[in-house]
Amino acid sequence: MNEDFLNRKLQQRKESAAFRELRLKQGTIDFCSNDYLGIVTGNMLNVVHANSEEKLHGSTGSRLISGNYPLIEEAEKMLADFHNAPAALIFNSGYDANIGLLGCIPQRNDTVLYDQLSHASIRDGVRLSHAFAFSFEHNDTDDLERLLQIATGNVFVITESVFSMDGDVAPLDEIAELCRSYNAMLIVDEAHATGVIGKKGEGLVQHLGLENDCFARIHTFGKALGCHGAAIIGSGKLRNFLINFSRPFIYTTAMPASAIRAIMQSYAVFPAMEKERAHLFKLVKRFRDNTASLRLCKSVTPIQGVIIPGNEEVKSAAQLVQEKNLDVRPILYPTVTRGRERLRIVLHSFNTEEQIDGLITILESRK
Ligand SMILES: Cc1ncc(COP(=O)(O)O)c(C=O)c1O
Repeated sequence: MNEDFLNRKLQQRKESAAFRELRLKQGTIDFCSNDYLGIVTGNMLNVVHANSEEKLHGSTGSRLISGNYPLIEEAEKMLADFHNAPAALIFNSGYDANIGLLGCIPQRNDTVLYDQLSHASIRDGVRLSHAFAFSFEHNDTDDLERLLQIATGNVFVITESVFSMDGDVAPLDEIAELCRSYNAMLIVDEAHATGVIGKKGEGLVQHLGLENDCFARIHTFGKALGCHGAAIIGSGKLRNFLINFSRPFIYTTAMPASAIRAIMQSYAVFPAMEKERAHLFKLVKRFRDNTASLRLCKSVTPIQGVIIPGNEEVKSAAQLVQEKNLDVRPILYPTVTRGRERLRIVLHSFNTEEQIDGLITILESRK
């Protein structure tokens, strides 16, 4: 088979030092995973299958055919209750949830306004929709208001509560206020806030008491929760609409009971992990207080970006840190815009103050 046609774009990636390769874990100190609370590292989800009739593997079909079962509906009720909303619908991943929501809810002649730094799954969802779509400057409510003034049809505003690459937090109070004034529907992706933000890790929306201001929230289970999958949280009507029109929900095999059990177990564990969250934020403060000489993203969350412009430059900085057994990954153009390449450092509740200090010493030694 002649696969030469694949070469040109792969070669371009290599020439711009942006070629992606899979790597296996090397027993290094973790400064890159999304296991913020150590639920996976601490092996805290020893799922016991209480009911032997429950299928451990495979769910035999899509939710609308043979793949619906009591446990998955029980999990959705639990999610709706925990997140203080009427209903929840589980998707197989956060990526599926975002494209599944945005691909079917906004209709032709509606308008979607999304933060410029939104995750790829949001941008791909927007591309699937037939609505008009405009991005607003990152976290810039003046720019959002400018767009709200000219938006037509039903208007949807989507943002992340904690941004996946910069780690900064959206001004959700102000965005919700604007949505109220302009009668727009607010959608919040809580992927990196779930488990981390709020007394019980409920996310930023609940932390700010904005549940009733949201049309939909996306909570993902693959980050702090140590599982896989996601849920869209909202009204019963929204849930019914998604069941009827969301293609990534309709045309895929349901999550198996083993995965749902793990999610339920994680929800039984993470709300009580207040000590872990407190330690995590202590580490964030220590990192920020001692890195004044570095060019950091404006973040008060466990995602800390050290800007090192240039793919080659940021890759060699990552290599320097990795040689000292610290697993820090470079984020390259085109994942981030040119000039904003960075080391994306993720702090965890199981990292120690000594590890943070060691990391800072290495980062400072490069200057
Ligand atoms: C903000 C945001 N939304 C959605 C996703 C996708 O979630 P999942 O990994 O469950 O597909 C991610 C994952 O990186 C994310 O950072």
